[in-house]
Amino acid sequence: MATTSVIREVSRHVDSEVRIGCWLHNKRSSGKIQFLQLRDGTGYIQGVVVKSDVAEEIWETAKSLTQESSMYVTGVIREEPRSKSGYEMTVTGVEIIQLTQDYPITPKEHGVDYLMDNRHLWIRAPKQRAILTIRGEIIRAIQQFFDDRSFTLVDPPILTPSSCEGTTNLFHTKYFEEDAFLTQSGQLYMEAAAMALGKVYSFGPTFRAEKSKTRRHLIEFWMIEPEMAFVDHEESLRVQEQFVAHVVQSVVKNCRAELETLERDISKLEKIVAPFPRITYDDAIKFLQEQGFDIPWGEDFGAPHETAIAEKYETPVFITHYPTEIKAFYMKPDPNRPDVVLCADMIAPEGYGEIIGGSQRIDDPALMEERFREHELSTEAYQWYLDLRKYGSVPHSGFGLGLERTVAWICGLDHVRETIAFPRTLYRLYP
Ligand code: 4AD
Ligand code: MG
Repeated sequence: MATTSVIREVSRHVDSEVRIGCWLHNKRSSGKIQFLQLRDGTGYIQGVVVKSDVAEEIWETAKSLTQESSMYVTGVIREEPRSKSGYEMTVTGVEIIQLTQDYPITPKEHGVDYLMDNRHLWIRAPKQRAILTIRGEIIRAIQQFFDDRSFTLVDPPILTPSSCEGTTNLFHTKYFEEDAFLTQSGQLYMEAAAMALGKVYSFGPTFRAEKSKTRRHLIEFWMIEPEMAFVDHEESLRVQEQFVAHVVQSVVKNCRAELETLERDISKLEKIVAPFPRITYDDAIKFLQEQGFDIPWGEDFGAPHETAIAEKYETPVFITHYPTEIKAFYMKPDPNRPDVVLCADMIAPEGYGEIIGGSQRIDDPALMEERFREHELSTEAYQWYLDLRKYGSVPHSGFGLGLERTVAWICGLDHVRETIAFPRTLYRLYP
């Protein structure tokens, strides 16, 4: 009797017979031998069917297999140094579950719109599978980093009565009789949680109705938001650089085969170690002006500016101390220079843009109320948030890492739409 196994574990069954549930990825034939490229989600293996060694019926069944047909294949596992996985299967039996007709994604090139319409099938492709595997490893490494440092995972709400990052790109919905919004960021709630638990992090979906059709924007994306009581801006930067280096090195260590499938230049990732360089907004503006960019002090950076700055470095770079005017209401002004705030954006190398936004938060109740007036925020809707400055306020800092941009960078992808199984992009809600 053949043992039931999965492709990832065939090394345990060398020279014995196994039975594997799988799909046909591809097929080649030389007349007397058929080579079946089999996949089962855990990996790939080549099944070899030799005409002279199997019954006529098995040969014919193998011949009838089409792309993405599902089946159980039985065979003997052999070491095969010439194959990518190091193993091969000498097929002794094929039981078809379903013969597939006209699978929509053939080995030929397809346009992106077509592939996106067929995203539910496209995720079976080797590159897409590699990306989703790496995303899983990134999530595991993120949780490990914070769990190892005694952060508590806290889940902020998704339906909220107010906004965190401005009101321009809120998703509106009804909450029975009331108006509600899908969360743009859990930060304000995480500040409350930090006052209860010290060091916390959230990991969940966030939503922004951004009408920007770029390579870096999704409508629904996942964010990791740590918040730390008694931690200032400087210490927060140190956590951020160690965090990102840990995530990248975990992928390098645990996902080498997937990075190779994606043809990622791994030597570039190996250079991602802390500390990361820091440049102030002031110096960044000077540098950009020297490079010929027409950008005055006080203006926010766009993608070309970020890319020009990032090109100077092999690791991510922090741009710190942005003008108070262009940043969120909750950021703490620099005590030496109130026209800038204690904040930083972390810009990934190779043109992947901002992957982290973070800051020290205002802890002074009077200043927070002043900001509420300036930004015309309702003290009623945010009463609970103002309470945090009233009852045992402490210095605290936090940041948000965008998961999909991080996956795009580590995988070396052109576009964030391939970093999540079912992306929500501008005007695309299907599949
Ligand atoms: O810089 P942002 O807007 O910061 C915040 O939301 C803070 N409240 C976070 C905090 O301090 N707790 O967003 C954080 C990160 C960005 O750096 C970017 O990586 C990602 O979220 N991001 C997006 N990713 C994909 N699509 C979008 N539309 C994104 N908008 C932001
Ligand atoms: Mg930002």
